[in-house]
Amino acid sequence: MRKTGILFALFSVMCTAFIGCGNDEADVLVMATNAEFPPYEFYSDEEIVGIDVDIARIIAEDMGCELVIEDMAFDSIIDAVESGKADIGMAGITVSEDRLKEVDFSDIYAEASQAVIVKEGSDVTSLADLVGKRVGVQLGTTGDDFSENIEDASVERYNRGYEAIQALDQGKVDAVVIDREFAEVYVSQNGGLAILDESFTDEEYAICVAKGNTKLLEKVNASVQNLKDSGKLREIVDKYINAE
Ligand code: ARG
Repeated sequence: MRKTGILFALFSVMCTAFIGCGNDEADVLVMATNAEFPPYEFYSDEEIVGIDVDIARIIAEDMGCELVIEDMAFDSIIDAVESGKADIGMAGITVSEDRLKEVDFSDIYAEASQAVIVKEGSDVTSLADLVGKRVGVQLGTTGDDFSENIEDASVERYNRGYEAIQALDQGKVDAVVIDREFAEVYVSQNGGLAILDESFTDEEYAICVAKGNTKLLEKVNASVQNLKDSGKLREIVDKYINAE
């Protein structure tokens, strides 16, 4: 009897851990991200930090849950949320029509746009110059979508944004199309690169949850609203961007 009890307890702990705080059953909220995207998520020593992480920690805290971060390819995040492996997806994810077919999104917490990184002194100085060029992007991102529409460009897709920039360094691509905040962090830390002044899209970042998980979405939205009203969101952004 006792043994069954223990087994049962173990089983429920395992189940609830799997179901996740996002479903009210466990004490962890699992966030799927791609931690190669400063200032939103990146490794500082062994730890994943950034704007998204700070926001997610507060959301989890508001829910009385512990935040667990699962780092994966950007391209896998929506699947992880859809299949329930993660409760929320948070990775500077731009809300898009296509993604809305697969997951639900929270209220917007940041605005973004695509920027073009080139080598210093490059003859690419405007969008028009990208026609027929080799463009590097991170696989499955809005930069990837945008680049597909550049006339005659050959789009080289990399799993990581950093790899795309490495390819630029090595002359394998002529430009990289990627989110502006990321571009700015990267270019300020590494020499020899420049960002074109022009921005190319109007995008909005939000947090995704499994389709129909309104209970979780409401909690996420309540925290996001709170973060905005209290000025805490501004503070977090300033900590990682403006204050640099
Ligand atoms: N905002 C872009 C998108 O949603 C790129 C996000 C990349 N994020 C990351 N953590 N690597 O497609």
